[in-house]
Amino acid sequence: MSKSYNIAVIGGDGTGPEVANEGVKVLKTAANKFGFKLNFEDYDYGGDRYLRTNEVLPESAASDLSQHDAIFLGAIGHPDVKPGILEKGILLKLRFELDQYINLRPVKLFPGVETPIKDKGPEEINYVIVRENSGGIYTGAGGISMKDTPNEVAVQSMVYNRFQVERCLRYAFEYAQKNGKKAQGIGKENTLGLVGKTNVLTYVFDLWERAFNDVGAADYADVRRDYYHVDATCMWMVKSPEWFDVLVTGNMFGDIITDLGAMTQGGMGIAAGGNINPEGVSMFEPIGGSAPKYTGQNVINPLAAICAGAMMLKELGEADAGNAIEAAVADVTANKLEGLAAGRMGYTTTEVGDLVAEGVA
Ligand code: IPM
Ligand code: MN
Repeated sequence: MSKSYNIAVIGGDGTGPEVANEGVKVLKTAANKFGFKLNFEDYDYGGDRYLRTNEVLPESAASDLSQHDAIFLGAIGHPDVKPGILEKGILLKLRFELDQYINLRPVKLFPGVETPIKDKGPEEINYVIVRENSGGIYTGAGGISMKDTPNEVAVQSMVYNRFQVERCLRYAFEYAQKNGKKAQGIGKENTLGLVGKTNVLTYVFDLWERAFNDVGAADYADVRRDYYHVDATCMWMVKSPEWFDVLVTGNMFGDIITDLGAMTQGGMGIAAGGNINPEGVSMFEPIGGSAPKYTGQNVINPLAAICAGAMMLKELGEADAGNAIEAAVADVTANKLEGLAAGRMGYTTTEVGDLVAEGVA
């Protein structure tokens, strides 16, 4: 009997449902071709549901979703809902409740895609950022006192415990061992670079650095270890991206540098990410937003969602199918699309989905 996977689909807001549809189209094609089954179930979480029901997420959301093998997400963010409510109440809440403690974000320039970085191509811009996804400033520890007085004080703390740091580092070391540049046959070593700020954040990144060295030396001696301050990382991501293989960092730094990375790979139209719980249910998403102004026009670029689908298949253990989708995307970017920006692709959203699906079939 062929394998079968149950996928929860959260189309979400704005152009989210449109890109998710193209992702599902390509995933179905890949499943047919590679001989497994995908069962999709839609969930209506997002801004419209919130405006209708006044409830951001039903009580049972995390437990309902965790019945599935994976979650495929379009985008969250609605122009009629105050910023923060849906992002915190849906996206961050699910990441936390499902303990998706890794946010895996490849920075990969596909052939034919324009990068703002002069003289760099797909060979140079090809690395992966492992963002810790469960702790740090995102836990919301802190508060405001003496609010609305001239003396008011706001604190928001970067909180990490050894357990969170170590499980993230182990994932990153293992990822580098299995998927680093040596493992891919394109480099001499598999390298994991820790991105921190040990010169200023002398508590939190002291913990990260000690854990990095302890775990690395004891269990991953074959992975080369590097360390970069986060500000210098931004510099090298622009100047010498070819230095990087796998990078690992905390939640806030990871949020920031992955947007920079996305721009270097051609923008939000193509940047995908996975919120991963290696022992549980993971959620895959294009990392751009809901782009509400393009809603319903069939002009948004679905490639990021399609690439998120490819990541999902790899995580489910269907690596051949995931790689086939990526190869089809590379063919489309190299030979078909005029550009990646919404409305400037030379094709509609659904046509781009069709092109990739044809390439996979
Ligand atoms: C991301 C986003 C989210 C984050 C927001 C929408 C809460 O920027 O996925 O990178 O900060 O993690
Ligand atoms: Mn972000």
